[in-house]
Amino acid sequence: MSAAGEKGFGQGSEELARWTERVFQPEDEVLREIRERTVAAGLRPIQVGPFDGLHLELLTRAAGARRAVEIGTLGGYSGVCLLRGMGASGFLHTFEREPAAAAVAAETFRRTGFASRVRIHVGDAREALAQVEPEGPFDLVFLDADKTGYPDYLAWAEEHLRVGGVLLADNAFGWGGVARERYQGRHSAEGVEALKRFNARLAGGGRFRATMLPTEEGLAFGVKVR
Ligand SMILES: C[S@@+](CC[C@H](N)C(=O)[O-])C[C@H]1O[C@@H](n2cnc3c(N)ncnc32)[C@H](O)[C@@H]1O
Repeated sequence: MSAAGEKGFGQGSEELARWTERVFQPEDEVLREIRERTVAAGLRPIQVGPFDGLHLELLTRAAGARRAVEIGTLGGYSGVCLLRGMGASGFLHTFEREPAAAAVAAETFRRTGFASRVRIHVGDAREALAQVEPEGPFDLVFLDADKTGYPDYLAWAEEHLRVGGVLLADNAFGWGGVARERYQGRHSAEGVEALKRFNARLAGGGRFRATMLPTEEGLAFGVKVR
């Protein structure tokens, strides 16, 4: 049996999941309102889960991050979590391809009082990231956009995070597909292949010390070491 098998990787217990939700209360009224308004605006409900949001806030706090980059804004749910984690002097650059989503996020940041501490860059992050490079190096980069872009976003983070900076990436399990030789499911197989390359480079590329936080979707977590 592997070490992971002996020790268990996540509990997979519905009862424990409900208990943890009751005790740790990951989603407050502010986040619930963002989630509901995002759906009401016609966007897909693909924001991070409540516990992912709490993890983002706390990892950002623990890292003492003050300058962060997010790729994939949607309605601003995870952006608010990152901003909460950065405290009063934090600043977030967040990238969103869809103008309709960016408009919902702008309203989110206005309602939550964060508007002066965030800039939404509308457009494809692959081109738009260059706009913020002069403000780097950054303390934290969070990836949550097109999975085919993850290897490129990781390469960008390697150059524009400070040593000691944090890389977080949601959906890193690729809906279970990363563990299979060939993924055949409702998500993009090309995206899953990109996630395999992303994880391999994050884990073994030499620029990060990294692990996988065993959330439902897999939250990859790396600290830049060189
Ligand atoms: C999963 S959602 C982000 C959810 C958000 N992080 C949250 O938890 O509240 C992914 C978002 O990334 C955006 N996106 C996808 N590809 C993109 C790209 N190349 N550049 C910028 N945004 C992109 C999509 O339009 C979508 O709104």
